[in-house]
Amino acid sequence: MRIQGKVALITGAAEGLGGAFAEELLKKGAKGVGIADVNVSKGKETAGLFLSKYGHQKAIFLQCDVTSEKQLEDAFRKTKEEYGRLDIVCNNAGIGDERKWRLMIDINLAAVVHGTYLARKYMSKQHGGSGGLVVNIASMAGLILGPLSPVYTATKHGVVGFTRSMASFDAAFSKDDIRLNTICPSFSDTSIINKTVAPEFVDGDIMKQVAGTLKLLPVSRVAEGFMRLVEDDDLHDQVMRVTHERGIDFQRFKPNPPMPSKM
Ligand SMILES: NC(=O)c1ccc[n+]([C@@H]2O[C@H](COP(=O)([O-])OP(=O)(O)OC[C@H]3O[C@@H](n4cnc5c(N)ncnc54)[C@H](O)[C@@H]3O)[C@@H](O)[C@H]2O)c1
Repeated sequence: MRIQGKVALITGAAEGLGGAFAEELLKKGAKGVGIADVNVSKGKETAGLFLSKYGHQKAIFLQCDVTSEKQLEDAFRKTKEEYGRLDIVCNNAGIGDERKWRLMIDINLAAVVHGTYLARKYMSKQHGGSGGLVVNIASMAGLILGPLSPVYTATKHGVVGFTRSMASFDAAFSKDDIRLNTICPSFSDTSIINKTVAPEFVDGDIMKQVAGTLKLLPVSRVAEGFMRLVEDDDLHDQVMRVTHERGIDFQRFKPNPPMPSKM
């Protein structure tokens, strides 16, 4: 996709990976980016910074708790009203708190499902849109076992499975309509690392010690992977990994058994 003149909506973009994705799009001439986040002060600050760096109307802050169906749909509606189009949706907001596991499922998985359905509603040619791209943010914990984080691991496996299923079986997400991909980064240098809360069976101090030893990916490396998914129109139904060991590459899966013809 040529980014010049395109419009994106990114959840959890007040900081961290989402903020970096938004800035890369603006650097390449995006018309505007909707910064949807529950953190009002940080979200306004980030949107203000983008306005001063990239120009008038280039960013809009949308106060949005992604677990609220209304607030998430409002963010889609307002982005489209503000810019007149919507081309890129990134379902990125996430937390790592095993003691608030039900909330974590709602943010990391249920809101990604809802955000994907809303992307279809607002972008699909079948519904009067002009197509586009959805990128759902999972984690390497969506492909392997996440140490000390069983529910986080479950949510990220859920994001990978849901996104692949939608890309394979929903007609709206075919190559020339909406491309749908997942990114699985390894540990990256954002504030989620220090906000992560261990499950009850793990000593919190061990968690802090582990966090202190992690080799973190620079945020720019994950943003590079994100931009590759945006710019390469051949990338659909892909699960991108971003790791220290292999850099940016793609997970390969065994093909599914053939489906019955009447579905
Ligand atoms: N940093 C890593 O090591 C890493 C690795 C793999 C995957 N991820 C995933 O990347 C995504 C972004 O995380 P990050 O590392 O940038 O973390 P971060 O904490 O820096 O940013 C997360 C953002 O999500 C927002 N958010 C949290 N709850 C929300 C809600 N209910 N509604 C709206 N916004 C909400 C936060 O306010 C914050 O701005 C997450 O899905 C995370 O699981 C991160």
